[in-house]
Amino acid sequence: MKGAAFDVVVIGAGAAGLMCAIEAGKRGRRVLVVDHAKAAGEKIRISGGGRCNFTNLNAAPKNFLSDNPHFCISALSRYQPKDFIALVERHGIAWHEKTLGQLFCDGSARQIVDMLLAEMQAVGAELRLQTAVVSVAKTDEGFAVETSGGTIMCRSLVVASGGLSIPKMGATGLGHDIARQFGLPIVATRPGLVPLTLAPDLLERLQPLAGVSVDASVKSGKTRFDEAMLFTHRGLSGPAILQISSYWREGGTIEIAMAPGADLCETLRRARTERGRQSLGTLLAEHLPRRLALLVAESHGADRRMADFSDKALHAVDAAVNHWEVRPAGPEGYRTAEVTLGGVDTRALDSKTMEAKAVPGLHFIGEVVDVTGWLGGYNFQWAWASGWCAGQAV
Ligand code: FDA
Repeated sequence: MKGAAFDVVVIGAGAAGLMCAIEAGKRGRRVLVVDHAKAAGEKIRISGGGRCNFTNLNAAPKNFLSDNPHFCISALSRYQPKDFIALVERHGIAWHEKTLGQLFCDGSARQIVDMLLAEMQAVGAELRLQTAVVSVAKTDEGFAVETSGGTIMCRSLVVASGGLSIPKMGATGLGHDIARQFGLPIVATRPGLVPLTLAPDLLERLQPLAGVSVDASVKSGKTRFDEAMLFTHRGLSGPAILQISSYWREGGTIEIAMAPGADLCETLRRARTERGRQSLGTLLAEHLPRRLALLVAESHGADRRMADFSDKALHAVDAAVNHWEVRPAGPEGYRTAEVTLGGVDTRALDSKTMEAKAVPGLHFIGEVVDVTGWLGGYNFQWAWASGWCAGQAV
């Protein structure tokens, strides 16, 4: 096309943008990826504790939150975990399943970044780092992208600039601003997969537990996660809490079972008859980490012998351990959130191409879109899948 240096400009060299560039490059498109960061794929590099939980074997639409839950079905079925695994294996990257279908590199997350950059290079896609996108405008033939390094003309523009999480790593609201500029609706954004804080009085009581981890079952409404929970100096964290944080709404409560496998009421009753001289603290320590057991026991009479407990008192202990209703003060915020919930409203996008229905040539992929996965490799799978789909269409 006249005046256009590139067929495709991708804003954002993250998981989604790199995948899109590779696929568009394979189709012979002249592709440029721009990013204001010093290095590509920074979130990939730090992900999964440095080992990148790059996909999840069980990835299915039910593992994603969106105002329009059916939108992700097409992309997730067209590009599946097995497709990304095949790519990883072609590059000789060793991997393992940690738990619950979560796949990690044996070595380092850096291998995934290097793999994507090698694939990009192989198809001749160009990468310009330390190039901030200032604004974009529609032209007769496509788009003009104004960057800190000058204006770039292109036929298709792919917005892969991510969400608002971890601003110190370069997250900006650019993608949402571009959507608004073109009249696309935005689903209100909020931090997801984030630790929850507690009110000062409760926090003070729980201070001795900072650092204690327990296998818990955590519920918000009808949604439940059975994973580890961690007490922190600010509140609650750990996988179970991060997962439920995406479902929890400000002002609401969550219900926590800290000995979910045990019929605690029955166990306590039996202990009352069979081990009447034992203290509650000692008994609870058989089912809970010791520090937690002692704190729970303290508020029910730590040294009281089991024989002295009424049925009502035993029920109260069971409720404190397995039906603990907590009203979190709030999420910790974007500073520590792994993802951003909400984003570009998918009703304005084509689910096969990620193209804005009202703006031909403009595509949105990855976290900037209102599709958010659970913890456990689901968010990268969405980034790969949505990036792959746009890459077939641009
Ligand atoms: P991503 O945020 O990766 O990329 C966006 C890019 O756009 C960035 O490189 C940014 O610099 C650039 N950009 C933004 N504004 C710009 C501007 N104005 N001009 C130019 N460039 C701009 N998920 C998972 O599945 N498994 C895991 O193990 C983890 N682990 C994990 C750990 C931590 C600490 C975090 C914060 C997140 C995770 N995640 C995860 C989530 C996962 O990292 C996230 O969902 C994807 O990186 C999203 O990919 P995107 O490509 O959409 O955005």
